[in-house]
Amino acid sequence: MENVAHRRLRDWVRTMSRLCEPENVVWCDGSAAERAAIWEGLVRQGTAKPLNQKLRPGSFIVRSDPADVARVEDRTFICSANRDDAGPTNNWVAPDEMRATMQRLFAGAMRGRTMYVIPFSMGPIGSDIAHIGVQLTDSPYVVGSMHVMTRVGSRVLEQLGEDGRFVPCIHSVGSPIGDGSEDVPWPCNPNERYIVHFPETREIWSYGSGYGGNALLGKKCFALRIASVMARDEGWLAEHMLIVKVTDPAGRTRYMAGAFPSACGKTNLAMLTPTLPGWRVETIGDDICWMKFGADGRLYAINPEAGFFGVAPGTSILSNPNALRTLERNSVFTNVAETPDGDVWWEGMTDIPPERLTDWQGLPWAPGNSGPAAHPNARFTVAAHQCPVIAPEWEDPAGVPISAILFGGRRASVVPLVNEARDWTQGVYFGSIIASEKTAAAAGRVGELRRDPMAMLPFCGYNMADYWSHWLRMGTRNSAHLPRIFYVNWFRRDDRGRFLWPGFGENARVLKWIFERCDNDAGAIDAPIGRLPSPDALDLHGLKLDNDALHDLLRVDTDGWRQEIPLIREYYHSFGGRAPDALLGESLALAGRLDAAQGSAA
Ligand code: GTP
Ligand code: SPV
Ligand code: MN
Repeated sequence: MENVAHRRLRDWVRTMSRLCEPENVVWCDGSAAERAAIWEGLVRQGTAKPLNQKLRPGSFIVRSDPADVARVEDRTFICSANRDDAGPTNNWVAPDEMRATMQRLFAGAMRGRTMYVIPFSMGPIGSDIAHIGVQLTDSPYVVGSMHVMTRVGSRVLEQLGEDGRFVPCIHSVGSPIGDGSEDVPWPCNPNERYIVHFPETREIWSYGSGYGGNALLGKKCFALRIASVMARDEGWLAEHMLIVKVTDPAGRTRYMAGAFPSACGKTNLAMLTPTLPGWRVETIGDDICWMKFGADGRLYAINPEAGFFGVAPGTSILSNPNALRTLERNSVFTNVAETPDGDVWWEGMTDIPPERLTDWQGLPWAPGNSGPAAHPNARFTVAAHQCPVIAPEWEDPAGVPISAILFGGRRASVVPLVNEARDWTQGVYFGSIIASEKTAAAAGRVGELRRDPMAMLPFCGYNMADYWSHWLRMGTRNSAHLPRIFYVNWFRRDDRGRFLWPGFGENARVLKWIFERCDNDAGAIDAPIGRLPSPDALDLHGLKLDNDALHDLLRVDTDGWRQEIPLIREYYHSFGGRAPDALLGESLALAGRLDAAQGSAA
């Protein structure tokens, strides 16, 4: 560590190691040898098990503690100096109080363990849109995962130089090894979990969990919660969005970004196999999108990540063949089921489960068992470059210019298949009112409808109402080049609870309409809630969809929307006067248009 040029970094690591008292400190260089050694250690420890090397070369299965399986939103804190700067959607504790708690918890927290120092870049190293973090962790599983999910090691230290900016991220599983006590395969501390952010000083402290977004601090903690604050202060956007490249049969390309809440279809849309002949979709990113204005006034996006940490259940050769091809090798599967021949399985991979499965907790499993074989939030971890449809420019440091932004969620009713905003302000309004049924990506009740503005409810590092103002402000810059904004919903259901829209590859039909709308080439009708595809504008060639379903998917549910209006107003008012007037105005105008539509229908 003496040869690390960055003095502030050296001092911070020294201070933290004094606090945490690890047995030793290891600086990660990001090499293949390091990666191999980490996985060897994890196998020795019983955390990971190699899968059948013929069926799934270079791959591992990992079982977490059953109490540590998803993000813990109720244990996630935004500790800004002022409570109002965190806002009513975030948990807040005064910074001084939280710092005292962190000092107490991290004192001796790494006893008996190694403290790894992981310098990582979010985004291509050296990109103007990228930023650097350094994570300290006592979890080798986190080291192995960060190797895949971010760009790690010596080349990041080089980029940092002697005084480059970095976000300090400290993580402990909160389970020191005392004298004589044995370690366990998945150490964690479910009774004392804290995912803590200090937005003003751009720091992250995470304690007690080793799973996903709780522990891989480059992802939600840095790339969304802290980055959203940096973006507000510096005039850019840090969003929970996939990025895709869409190419039409004539070879024209457009880039689109899409915000859907956790487990609502970003990875699937990012890797979509279009059912429309001649159309191509390629992946730039599947979860996070950082956008900055370029010199030409357009909004340029990078994927700050280097890998996918994707939802396994529901991923099949039919729904997402590109994901399965990505996962053929060098992949880590956490909390999936295991087949007798040493491969993986999860609900939805095949209609009929293989025989003699071992479930995500390591127990024998057969159909009819009380729970699923794979945990609903079971995940794969894999390098993005293994994706067969990764776009060649996915690591372009300049980013890709965004033409359209999609907002969406899981809504069984009310919200139509697709709907275009008239302008940026209405688009921001759409984003702000997204409501979505809760999924297994976070601990808590699944299926409950909740507001999840811009899919950022659990990820916005400051007051959500200020975040809307920031979005509106972004729209006053370079308004000639702003992306168009669309509201989509793949999850509308019929009265028997079945999805009306086939989704997955068929979503290409909606992407086609969006693509053509960007050039005003597709027909649209003005509805009270925005612009919907005119009857012939949505390409339905070759799709078996009965007329009733189509009618329902594109129907303006005037009654449903009218019932939403007071809920939206109430929601805005919950921000105590901080919600921007422009959005309150959009809501009023929508209410007026709905009343008029109702009046003319009556
Ligand atoms: P996070 O990684 O948690 O942010 O999730 P995500 O937004 O990337 O969601 P993902 O694409 O992994 O999809 C989550 C679940 O939704 C999976 O079980 C998918 O099978 C299902 N899903 C995705 N797209 C569609 C769709 O178009 N229609 C339907 N019915 N289900 C979908
Ligand atoms: C999400 O929950 O939105 C995820 C998974 O992408 S995690 O990394 O655990 O946050
Ligand atoms: Mn996500």
